[in-house]
Amino acid sequence: MRSSSAGGPDEVLVKVYASTVSAADYRSRSRSVPKGLAVPVALALEVFRPRKRVLGMDVAGVVEVVGLGVTSFRPGDEVIAMLGSRFGGHAEYVCISQDGVITAKPRNMTFTDAVTLVFGGTTAHAFFRRTAIKPDSTVLVNGASGSVGTAAVQLAAQVGARVTGVCSGANRELVTALGADRVIDYTAEDFLLEGRTYDVIMDCVGNAPFERAGACVNPGGALLLVISDLKGLLLAAWNTKRSGKVIAAGNIENTSESLAFLVGLAESGRFQAVIDRTYDLADIASAHRFVDTGHKKGNVVLRIAAS
Ligand SMILES: NC(=O)c1ccc[n+]([C@@H]2O[C@H](COP(=O)([O-])OP(=O)(O)OC[C@H]3O[C@@H](n4cnc5c(N)ncnc54)[C@H](OP(=O)(O)O)[C@@H]3O)[C@@H](O)[C@H]2O)c1
Repeated sequence: MRSSSAGGPDEVLVKVYASTVSAADYRSRSRSVPKGLAVPVALALEVFRPRKRVLGMDVAGVVEVVGLGVTSFRPGDEVIAMLGSRFGGHAEYVCISQDGVITAKPRNMTFTDAVTLVFGGTTAHAFFRRTAIKPDSTVLVNGASGSVGTAAVQLAAQVGARVTGVCSGANRELVTALGADRVIDYTAEDFLLEGRTYDVIMDCVGNAPFERAGACVNPGGALLLVISDLKGLLLAAWNTKRSGKVIAAGNIENTSESLAFLVGLAESGRFQAVIDRTYDLADIASAHRFVDTGHKKGNVVLRIAAS
């Protein structure tokens, strides 16, 4: 199955080897979204029938054909790409503009490893770019064992920040191995009641809105709401103004520069793939069932073609 029809002159046709089943696929399929977002999401995705028939926000694969105007890629190039809200990655082929969020795959990674850089990596990187993380900054990542969280812990740690990860006790070892200096088990303790403050708090769970977490951010720091309800989205700019802290929420802009940055880290051994389970495309329903639990570690990879 090809997820988009004829390619244009600036597009490349990619044979897809791997994609992931992400929280975004789960939300799009189940319509389980934060408070206040059901109507906007329904308008974007479906009124009478699903507009996005093929899910999958990310791909790793090989360029097979290039359009007449393509200068950046050649047939045979191994690439990774973020399709974002256009979806379509759970397919054997996908057409992507050469100016889209696409870059050369890390040379030291398989397709299944490489595709894990895309969804969590570009999201964490884009949110961190809303603030300045320096060596010795204190950074707390809530939901540190998910796709975005495992990427965020690695990105903050490689800058030299002092990282606290919030996850369940079962994921303590994983999050420590990724670079966290401290781990808080959310099943035993509420990090917002601990009395500590941080330069940056990234919430990948949705239980640390500005009203609860704003006071735990140091003056001039940032609260990065990777997941937020409608109220949090609408008030982010106002809360930034009145608190003097960066309160960031909403969809982020993915860029090929971000993807290339992550590839550079991976090639120098400073960013690793975190894979919980790998499924063949034929078993995609089982993959969705597992992701629906909300308890995956890092990424769930979908193997689309044998490499
Ligand atoms: N704004 C954007 O553009 C954007 C982009 C990407 C993702 N998102 C959103 O960001 C959120 C995170 O995405 P993701 O891909 O990282 O999700 P994910 O991989 O599905 O997250 C699963 C992880 O969350 C952990 N978790 C569950 N409840 C927790 C809690 N109360 N405290 C701490 N950890 C908890 C689970 O650990 P346990 O098994 O130990 O519970 C599991 O490892 C999703 O809601 C997604 O929709 C937004």
